[in-house]
Amino acid sequence: MYKILLRKDLVPKVHLFKIAAPAVAKKARPGQFIVIRIDERGERIPLTVADWNAEEGSVTIIFMEVGTTTHRLAQLRTGDSISDFIGPLGLPSHIEKFGTVVCVAGGFAVAPIMPIARALKQAGNTVITIMGARNKDLLFWEEELRRVSDQLIVTTDDGSYGRKGLVTEPLLELLKSDTKIERVIAIGPSIMMKFCSKTTEPFGVKTIVSLNPIMVDGTGMCGCCRVSVRGITKFACVDGPEFDGHQVDWDLLFARQCAYIDEEKMSFEQWQRKHRIS
Ligand code: FES
Repeated sequence: MYKILLRKDLVPKVHLFKIAAPAVAKKARPGQFIVIRIDERGERIPLTVADWNAEEGSVTIIFMEVGTTTHRLAQLRTGDSISDFIGPLGLPSHIEKFGTVVCVAGGFAVAPIMPIARALKQAGNTVITIMGARNKDLLFWEEELRRVSDQLIVTTDDGSYGRKGLVTEPLLELLKSDTKIERVIAIGPSIMMKFCSKTTEPFGVKTIVSLNPIMVDGTGMCGCCRVSVRGITKFACVDGPEFDGHQVDWDLLFARQCAYIDEEKMSFEQWQRKHRIS
C-alpha cells in the first residue's frame, strides 16, 4: 500500500497528494508519469509526476476531479493509502541547453511543467513560462513557477488575473519578437496543445507536447494509448508521452479520447447516486 503523506487542496477540484513511494522517487525524471489504482477493483489512471524527493521517498501528484476515479481519489485524506502506484513510466523529457525555451502550461498542467521548467533552467536555458487558466480561482503554483523561470506570463480567459486571453497570444508575440526561441514545451488540454503547435509551426520552432490518451497498462502491451505521429503509430506510454506537436494527428487523438465518454458519464452518475452527491 502507498500512504498519502500529505493532501493539499490547491484550488477547487484540484488536489495535491504527496505519496510515499521510495522506489519511484529514486528513479523519477521530468516528464514521466505514474499509474495509480485506488484499490484492487479500481480503474488505472495515469498522472504525470509533479515533484519527487528521493531522500524522503515521496512523489507528488496533482489531479483534477473529472470522473469517477478522480472523485474517489479526492475523498482520501492524509494518512489514507492507495493500493497501486506504478512508475516512473514513459520517457523522460529531453533536457539540454537549447538557449531560450518557452514552457506553456494550461490549467492544472502547471504540475507537469514545473519539473521540466526547473530542469531546463538548471541546464542553463533561459526559461520563459506562460501559464493560463480560465479564471483567477483556478491558478496555483504561480510563485513556484516564477522561481524556475526567467520570465513568467500569466493569462486568464476572463481577464480576472494577469493578461486577458489565451496562452497562444503571448506565445505568438514571443515568436514574433527579437528573442530567438529555440524550443516550446506545451502541456495542457489537447486542444490547447494543438493550437500552441499550430502557432509555432509557421516559425519552425520545435514544439514538444505531452499527450494524454486513454491508458490502461502504461507499459506498451494493451495498445489503448496509440497515437499517430508523422503517420506512424506510437504508444504514448512507452514512446512518449512527449512528441513533436507538429507531427501529431490531433483529430485521431481527440476521437480516441472520446471513445468511452458515455461509459465514463454513466459510471460517474452511478457513483454520484451511490454517494448521494449532486
Ligand atoms: S497504455 Fe497500454 S500500450 Fe500504452
